[in-house]
Amino acid sequence: MAVSINIRSNKFYKDPYKTAVSLLILIAVIMVFLLIINILQDEDSNITQYPSLKFLISGIIVKDVDLKELEGNIEAHEIKFYDPMYKKEKKYRGFELRDVLQLGFGDEWKNSDYTDIAFEALDGYVSVSSISKFREPGGYIVFSDLDFTNWEPISIKEATPGPFYLVWTGKDQTTKNEYPWPWQLSSINLIKFEEQYSAVSPSGVSENSDVYKGYEIFKGRCVRCHSMNGEGGKVGPDLNAPQSIVAYRNAYMIKEMIKNPSKYRYTQMPDHPDLSDQDLDNVLAYFNYMNEIRN
Ligand code: HEC
Repeated sequence: MAVSINIRSNKFYKDPYKTAVSLLILIAVIMVFLLIINILQDEDSNITQYPSLKFLISGIIVKDVDLKELEGNIEAHEIKFYDPMYKKEKKYRGFELRDVLQLGFGDEWKNSDYTDIAFEALDGYVSVSSISKFREPGGYIVFSDLDFTNWEPISIKEATPGPFYLVWTGKDQTTKNEYPWPWQLSSINLIKFEEQYSAVSPSGVSENSDVYKGYEIFKGRCVRCHSMNGEGGKVGPDLNAPQSIVAYRNAYMIKEMIKNPSKYRYTQMPDHPDLSDQDLDNVLAYFNYMNEIRN
């Protein structure tokens, strides 16, 4: 037996092609082996790692709570409703948003000094909404899709909304009414909007002016992608610096680009078909005002 092996291996040495092939097979076997070890290790760490939610006050982390801790402290509910992101009825398991805020912030979130909550997603998207909305029932942070083994992908992007997804069960609690629906939620930041985004605020206008109404729309729907004077989202262009949008586009085109950008270009900017003419005029009034007070 030993002899025959010797003879074979001698033959291999004489045949460089066979030597190369056997070396390649050896490398392949080692790689498969390493891959298996890697997969086993990943499975191990999945068992002990729970996704977590960060709670911040004015941008400073005050708590970091993982799913296990959330489940241990607040009651989870099964909810079923028409999910506009999927455009169909969905069933989830999740916590009432008010319970989550109470766990993360204690009574601090009821302190009237704070005006807004900014929800940040794993990819950096931030949606900001006025805190009065969070006192209402209907908001849930869901952590499990009960119709699907993992999470069902949303739309053609194939993105999944887990590990945490903020949903609203009320019929009028839509993004159109400035309720935030962030997917892949990673942190919840309790803020004084004017302090966190002072360069976006139209200082010195009354709350029932057109300028202020336009600002509310901008705050609720645009600031996650656009900045004003360098503050805000970075997905789209700054709309007030170095020049205001009103300085280089006419009013008609600005309104068109807000309402129907997809009519003109392939863009990441979503259409806003539900904004009325009055809403668009208010946004424009806000842009004009911000241009006037710029220096
Ligand atoms: C998901 C991100 C996103 C949101 C939300 C968004 N935009 Fe945009 N917007 C963009 C991007 C990206 C551009 C860059 C130009 C393009 O791709 O068309 C843009 C361009 C613009 C322009 C400039 C068009 C031009 O060519 O000069 C205006 C004005 C504008 N957005 C206003 C708004 C307003 C007002 C809102 C809220 C009602 C809004 N956007 C919401 C991403 C967004």
